[in-house]
Amino acid sequence: MKDHNLSFDDFDELVNPKPETCEFDAVVERALSRRGFLGGVLAFGGAAMIGGGLAPTAQAAASRFTFEGVPTSTADALIVPEGYKAEVLIRWGDPMTSDTPEFDHETRGTAESQKVTFGDNTDGMHVFQSGEHVILAVNNEYTNIEVLWGNRPDGKPANDDDIWKGMYAHGLSFVEIAFDGERWSVVKDSPFNRRVTPATEMEITGPAAGHDWLKTAADPTGTKSLGTWNNCGSSTTPWGTYLTCEENFNGYFSAADEAHEPDAGLKRYGVSAKDWGYGWAKVDERFDISKHPHEPNRAGWIVEVDPADPAATPKKRTALGRFKHENAETVLSRAGRVVTYLGDDERGEYLYRYVSNGVYAPGADTDALMNEGVLYAAKFNDDGTGTWLALTPETTGMPSLAEVLIHARYAGDKVGATTMDRPEWVASNPRAPEVYVSLTNNRNRGAKANAGGVEQTVGGPNPRAKNNYGQIVRLFPAEGDHAAEGFRWDLFVMAGNPTVHSDAYAGSANVTAENMFNSPDGLAFDSTGLLWIQTDGNYKNEGDFAGQGNNQMLAADPATGEIRRFLTGPVACEITGLCWSPDRRTMFVGVQHPGEDNTASTWPGGPGTTPRSAIVAVTRTDGELVG
Ligand code: FEO
Ligand code: CA
Ligand code: CA
Repeated sequence: MKDHNLSFDDFDELVNPKPETCEFDAVVERALSRRGFLGGVLAFGGAAMIGGGLAPTAQAAASRFTFEGVPTSTADALIVPEGYKAEVLIRWGDPMTSDTPEFDHETRGTAESQKVTFGDNTDGMHVFQSGEHVILAVNNEYTNIEVLWGNRPDGKPANDDDIWKGMYAHGLSFVEIAFDGERWSVVKDSPFNRRVTPATEMEITGPAAGHDWLKTAADPTGTKSLGTWNNCGSSTTPWGTYLTCEENFNGYFSAADEAHEPDAGLKRYGVSAKDWGYGWAKVDERFDISKHPHEPNRAGWIVEVDPADPAATPKKRTALGRFKHENAETVLSRAGRVVTYLGDDERGEYLYRYVSNGVYAPGADTDALMNEGVLYAAKFNDDGTGTWLALTPETTGMPSLAEVLIHARYAGDKVGATTMDRPEWVASNPRAPEVYVSLTNNRNRGAKANAGGVEQTVGGPNPRAKNNYGQIVRLFPAEGDHAAEGFRWDLFVMAGNPTVHSDAYAGSANVTAENMFNSPDGLAFDSTGLLWIQTDGNYKNEGDFAGQGNNQMLAADPATGEIRRFLTGPVACEITGLCWSPDRRTMFVGVQHPGEDNTASTWPGGPGTTPRSAIVAVTRTDGELVG
């Protein structure tokens, strides 16, 4: 992933340090040293908030799961329950046209080959149907440079082509897929096959389009941008387009002069004079912030792409705000407004929601629905209630809506939104008006302010200091209406390790030695209303994480809180991205970065091969519905 072993957040903190200590540190120090502090958190959560007393029901009710849970694993293999099989559908570097050679394990491809082959680090994805055609839209979030350039003796790019290859490994891949009665495969040369990369032209739409801060040397109008990168989660709209989410966009910018000081707005988003090692500014000047300080403002958005129309220009939707977008779960309100739930994945950042002004009508133009609306940030109260706070010039005191959206994090600070433990995916239950939000972990909870200097107090949906396990918070919109101002919330699950801890770090009552995990990240409901949880956590299998093994995917029953492990991934991977075939007999699961940070993995090719991110198709051996 980088030329160092730091996470994205750790790197950002290192190069752009946050306030180190404050009065709050001392308060937490005292609180933690008091006997019974953590017990108090657990009692508060257990009695009132955590899972709403789910575990006893889980024991009494019949399980909805039709599979036997799999144990944790440290094997370099993808393991599914008995009665299921998993087959690789597509891997990094696999050709999408018949005249492109297969992936070369020696060279690991070139910039030219990467432009027409599947991108790296598969993440959010969705299946679309266009007539007879089944199109898989996939985010290729980033690339692990230790793997990308692992063919070079020093692990560094040997020439500009190596850097361009890394750039083209980012973006999106659209592939038509087909089922032959036995297995799914890619339809090479399909007119729907397409790569969208950091060089693809895009339109900037919505209230911030044309704002001075979006004007650059390449586009003095502030209405166009080149490309998309670090696309994390994704979603789909009721009208069949793909929403892709620009997350850690900051780590690709740098300055030739490492002493260059970015302005405060760029710093708030983690942009610094040093990139994560990708070197893009060496081959493309627009990534040098000392020369083009507005370039980073053209990234960090939700992008809408039409998978059925490869000629259509993707649209960046500024009405949905600019931050490190995780995913974009989109539903309709009672009145038919478009409601999109949005997480900003960084320690102590906010949970957002967009509500369109207009209502959706099938067949009518949908542009205005994504351009005209109100962005909100969530405020959680300790009593289990919460409010969506509108982010407008009036509520924030900021001079224009464009500035509110470009600097949405500032807007969240100003209205007093609740700092969260890294909001990852949001998933809406198709069977009930409720949404689930992964809060993956937050080492800084109760210890440090967020990137904007806002304290990260312990409490509410973030009840554990130095939270290294994560939790899933559940929101119940008032009157079952996703556009309502108020909501109730509870904690569906607090991940933990009951074999190591006996306090709040053991997890909530629905976490056991058999199903434990850390760092929930990807979340998706299937059409039956089962919640699937994917993890991007610590896989060292020691200390606080002893017995938890490699990253995994679990299923959860929202009604009972029961959680069961469905799948374990290969060494050093993250499981991310999940969708179903139209007939729900196949589940597509993403396996990202096996063998990251030079850990020993050769998945999926086996001994002697380069580890490669891949999507697997999971089916039941009897051909029945999955799940
Ligand atoms: Fe791309 Fe927050 O995970
Ligand atoms: Ca994620
Ligand atoms: Ca992640």
